[in-house]
Amino acid sequence: MSLTYSIDENFDIEKIEERYRKIFESAVPYLNTRVNLPHTYIVYQYAQLLLHEEGGSREIIIPACILHDVGWSSIPEDRQLRAFGPNIKDPESRRKHEVEGVLIAKEILAQAGYNGSLVRRITEIIDGHDTTTGARSLEDAITKDSDKLFRLSALGFRVDCERFQMDPKKYWPLLLKKIDDWFLTRTGRELAAHEVCQREQEVREQQKHSS
Ligand SMILES: [Fe+2]
Ligand SMILES: [Fe+2]
Repeated sequence: MSLTYSIDENFDIEKIEERYRKIFESAVPYLNTRVNLPHTYIVYQYAQLLLHEEGGSREIIIPACILHDVGWSSIPEDRQLRAFGPNIKDPESRRKHEVEGVLIAKEILAQAGYNGSLVRRITEIIDGHDTTTGARSLEDAITKDSDKLFRLSALGFRVDCERFQMDPKKYWPLLLKKIDDWFLTRTGRELAAHEVCQREQEVREQQKHSS
């Protein structure tokens, strides 16, 4: 695939495909914790790249990506930080963000006129997006890969180094080792390798400037 894309970190509803704007707009109030709004916008962009290469149902993947983390809004921020990342100390909160997310997503989707099996297939992906690891369907695999790619993006990398007190020089090699475990699609692995390579270059550049 072409690796000439660039990831935009600044969310604006106008940048969202018109038919998904209503869903995204309804999700925004639930994404105002930590960096969940830019996270979701970046996951949305990776999903577009993956869809283009891997196929799958856009009608399922894009809403699943937009809504996958709305459930964090029901968990206090200090608990959220213990519920994800390299050392999960609060697996109950991690599970809770999926369960609450399904309920919120159902409301948002109903308001946007979605019904029947489409709602079921979207919310099945939200339910378990972090607590299951395998590909339950192509749509599930693309949503999971898009979500994980955030951690390798420039913003995700910066944020994780800061909040988990990781040294960037040591963090990118760790991410490189995770690629085969984390990613479920060929394009996901390709994009992940490309992103880690970019992070490595940035870290080396910074070292050059600071020495
Ligand atoms: Fe999540
Ligand atoms: Fe996420």
